[in-house]
Formats: sequence, C-alpha cells, structure tokens
Amino acid sequence: MSKPSFDILVIGSGIAGLSFALDVANDYSVGVVTKKERWESATNYAQGGIAAAIGPEDSATLHVEDTLETGGGIADPEVVKLVAEEGPAQIRKLMEWGAKFSESGEGELELGREGGHSKHRIVHKADYTGKEVETALIRQARDHPNITLFENTLAVDLVTDRHLRASHRPISKRCYGAYVYNPNTHRVDLLSARATLLCTGGMGHVWRHTTNPPIATGDGAAMAWRAGARLANLEFMQFHPTAFYTEKDKRRERAFLISEAVRGFGAVLRNHRGERFMTDVHKMAELAPRDVVARAIDHERMKWGIDHVWLDVTRKKADDIKTHFPMIYETLKTEFGVDMTQEPIPVVPAAHYQCGGVITDTDAESTIERLFAAGEVAMTGLHGANRLASNSLLEAVVFSTRAAVSVQKALAESKGEQLPDIPEWDDTGTYDAEEWVLIKYDRKEIQKLMGYYVGIVRSDLRLERAKRRLELITEEVEDYWWRTKVSPDLVELRNIAQVSRLVVECALRRKESRGLHFTTDYPEVDDRMYKSDTIV
Ligand code: FAD
Ligand code: SIN
Repeated sequence: MSKPSFDILVIGSGIAGLSFALDVANDYSVGVVTKKERWESATNYAQGGIAAAIGPEDSATLHVEDTLETGGGIADPEVVKLVAEEGPAQIRKLMEWGAKFSESGEGELELGREGGHSKHRIVHKADYTGKEVETALIRQARDHPNITLFENTLAVDLVTDRHLRASHRPISKRCYGAYVYNPNTHRVDLLSARATLLCTGGMGHVWRHTTNPPIATGDGAAMAWRAGARLANLEFMQFHPTAFYTEKDKRRERAFLISEAVRGFGAVLRNHRGERFMTDVHKMAELAPRDVVARAIDHERMKWGIDHVWLDVTRKKADDIKTHFPMIYETLKTEFGVDMTQEPIPVVPAAHYQCGGVITDTDAESTIERLFAAGEVAMTGLHGANRLASNSLLEAVVFSTRAAVSVQKALAESKGEQLPDIPEWDDTGTYDAEEWVLIKYDRKEIQKLMGYYVGIVRSDLRLERAKRRLELITEEVEDYWWRTKVSPDLVELRNIAQVSRLVVECALRRKESRGLHFTTDYPEVDDRMYKSDTIV
C-alpha cells in the first residue's frame, strides 16, 4: 500500500461504515479499512432488531416520547425527532439493499417489543437481525467498483494538521485520512482522503465482561480524542441486563447475549428463590429501561450474595420459542447445554453499549473539519443518559445517510482541491521491544478495575481509585508506545487505557445519578447542576 489516496476513507465495516460507503460510492472513490474480517463487528451480532415507528398504532411522536423518557432528561429533542421520523425510510432502504426481515402471517413486517418501548416497533430477522443486515451490506459493497475494502487493517491514528510540515499547516483543524497498520508489511501506511468517516463502533472491551466482539476497544474514540475532537457522555456505558452467565474461568471473549426481545416475548426474571423481583421495582417490570433492570439484578446479587439471576421463558410454548429465537435456542443448547424451553437461563448484566462518543452535529460532522462520525462511536444526542433498546442500529443508518449527504456536498463544493503534502508515519528511534510481557497484562488489569470500580454502581471513592491506577498504567503504556514499533496489540492497549481514563473523568464530573450513571454518593438527579452533556 504505497501512499494510496481516496476521495473518502471509511474506518469500520459495520452498519454505519458500509451503508455510508454504499451511499457515496457512485460518485466518489471509497476506501474502507476494517481491523479484522469484513463482517466482524457488533452489527453482525445484533439480535433484537431495529426500532422504527411503522406499526398501525404507532407514530414517530410515540417513538420520540419513549426515547426521551429513557434518555433521562438529556437526550436532544431535535435529534430524537429527526431519527424517529427518518426511521421508516431507513428500514425500506435496508430492504432495498437486500435485508429480509421477519414477516407476520399477512406479509407485513413482524414487530417485536423491547424494554422502554410503549409499542411493538422492533423490525427484526428472528433473533439474528444484525447478521442479516451485515450480510446484505457486504454483498452490495463487495460488488461495487468504487469501493476498495482492506481487511485486517487497523487504523492507528487520524491524520490532521498536527501531522503536516509547518509550511503546509493550514489554519483550520482538518482531517486528511488515517495512518493504518499494514498486516503484510507490519508497517504503518498513510491512507489519505478528502473526507473521513469514523465508524469504529464501541468500547465494550474496556470492561472484562461484555457482549461486544473483540474489535470493540474504543479505537475511534481514542483516535478522535488524540486528534483533538470533542467527546461527550462517556460515563453512560449501558450494561445489558441479560448476558448468559458462565463461571469466571470459563468465560469467553464475548459474553453471549440473551436478547431483550426474549423478555418482550414474555420471559420473566427470578432470583435464586424463584421470586420475580422486577414487579416491585418498575411499572413495566421486566420491560423497564435497561438501567433499571440492570441495577435491580445487581441489587439482587448483592442482597443475596448470588452470582446471577434467572431468565425464565419456560411458560411459553417450546415451538414458539424455537421459531422466534432460533439462534439463541441453538447456541444455548449446543454450546452451553441449556434448553431454554425447559429450564431458566442464568444471566448477569454485561457492558454492552457506549452512549457517549465523538460529538457530531446533525450532519454527522465532528468538531474536526472533514472528520465525520456515525454509529456507536458517535455522540449525536439521541440517547442522552441511556439508550432505548434497538435505537442504535437505527441511529447508525440515519446518521450514515446524513454523513453521506454532507460529505458529498463538501466534496462537490471543493472540487479540484489538492491534499497537502502529508508525511509518512515516522517511527525513527523506535525498536521492536522485548519487554511486551511487562505491559501485556495491563489490558486485563484495566478491564478488571473498570469492572470493580466503574461498573453499574459507582462512588467517588471507587472512581478515584480507578483514576489513580489508570494514570499509572497509561503512563507506562505511553512510555512504551514512544519507544516501540507499532503492533495491533499495542495500539488497542493504548486506546483502551486512554478511553478508560476518559470514562472515569466523565463519571467523576457528574456528581449526581442519571440514567446509566449511578453513584451512591449522589443518588439523586440534580437538574440544576447536571442537566447537560459531559464534554471532554
Ligand atoms: P460496529 O458494527 O461495531 O462496526 C465497527 C467496525 O469498525 C468493525 O468493522 C471493526 O472491525 C472496525 N474497527 C474498529 N476499530 C477499528 C480500527 N482501529 N481500524 C479499523 N477498523 C476498526 N443495537 C440495536 O439497535 N439492536 C440490536 O438488536 C442490538 N443488538 C446487539 C447485540 C449485541 C451482541 C451487541 C454487541 C450489540 C447490539 N446492538 C444492538 C448494538 C449495535 O449492534 C451496535 O451499536 C451497532 O451495530 C454499531 O454499529 P457500528 O457500525 O457503529 O459499529
Ligand atoms: C437485544 O437484542 O437485547 C439488544 C438490543 C439492543 O442492544 O438494542
């Protein structure tokens, strides 16, 4: 890869990246880099579906109300409205690209129900919606002559003015592509572009127990932060209430999710004594917003000293369960030896979705010119302090479409512009270090301490502890970084360390409890002081 240049660079091949690439590729050359195989993304594992107000008794207004209610008072009403209104058209677009969603007997789309939604509005493909969407998008992108996809190609850093030689440094703060790790040469190459879309997904792997695939190491947030972009609301990590429980030593890289749609279908939560506890906690019981359910489970675990609670769907007909949840049924049966039609499923909360991220406007542009962001890495204002279930796939396609419109406009208006002279990656003075073993375990240490101190229930004491330890680890990693040749492991470790610190910084600043951020020191909402985003 020697100094290739595209009109547009896309970093990530989940729903946000691929749908954007398809939107812009007719008129522009598009390079898509993705750090593993093309399908490896959170999108590919999405289960429940995509929220869109298309049912006969539903409306964008009701979708707006539910989203704002879940968002804990700081979701942006303008953004919520536009997402809810643009939702149905986005579903049609995905179908035109080849996604086939489950239908009811009458040939209408079958609509599921999930926590916090007042209506059935979840468009889905049984319980493997993400795979259906990702496969359709990959099929389209693969056949497109203007899209070049680079697999196993990790973006290391965004190229901005700070990389230009002084004589070429324009006044504006602009993005010109990225430096990426070339898996064949093990060197870092320059991929320049007139516009860049960051769509690297989330940061679940900052925590040990997560539903996210291993690609979710906060790379996009860390790169944007290093480039000087503004980020916000990283304290709002959503813990999904029902990840399959396995004993610590048997845990895998990705906790297996039991979709919220299973609760929407009628499953109930019970403690070890067989008692339903959600009915005492919230009027929507098991279908209360996720923060409420996750905290209630955490409370049961602390109260009784139990490792997990039970999700029980056995009162439903076995055939119906298998029809609605074929993937979950099969996986539980074959991989974990649990027959969900006959026995309850052991579940615990796990880190699932980052509501905060790179601040973008309604055109999906970040605070850096020509750097756009969409999908989980972005903070659009839709979720506020808590995300409504199945709103993230929707948000990703809505803002990818908006990014496509604004990128095309920006490039058309600056036709003929030349990119400045951008230097190659400079690794002089670094060497292939031998002491990787010294920091190799830092990743696990960070994940553990984030679990202990920055989990579902927080306090100043816990957060301060996390902060002190993270400062030390980040210092070590940074020191190593500047002396050592780049490797994917090191890039991820550095990103995990940096975003962990940002999460803690945001959490320490919010001296109240709101949505997903709950601290025992300030258990109440404080609208007077904190009804706003936490910006870093
Ligand atoms: P992703 O789909 O995660 O894609 C990110 C891409 O960026 C990947 O291709 C990755 O390899 C690449 N990447 C990352 N870092 C780099 C780097 N440094 N260089 C190059 N490439 C990089 N949401 C819903 O709305 N409904 C659901 O039913 C639902 N179910 C879910 C179930 C599970 C198990 C999980 C984990 C999440 C679920 N979510 C769901 C959340 C939703 O799937 C994600 O928020 C959404 O898919 C994010 O899409 P994305 O395109 O932003 O990122
Ligand atoms: C699920 O299926 O429970 C996940 C839905 C989501 O994260 O929105």
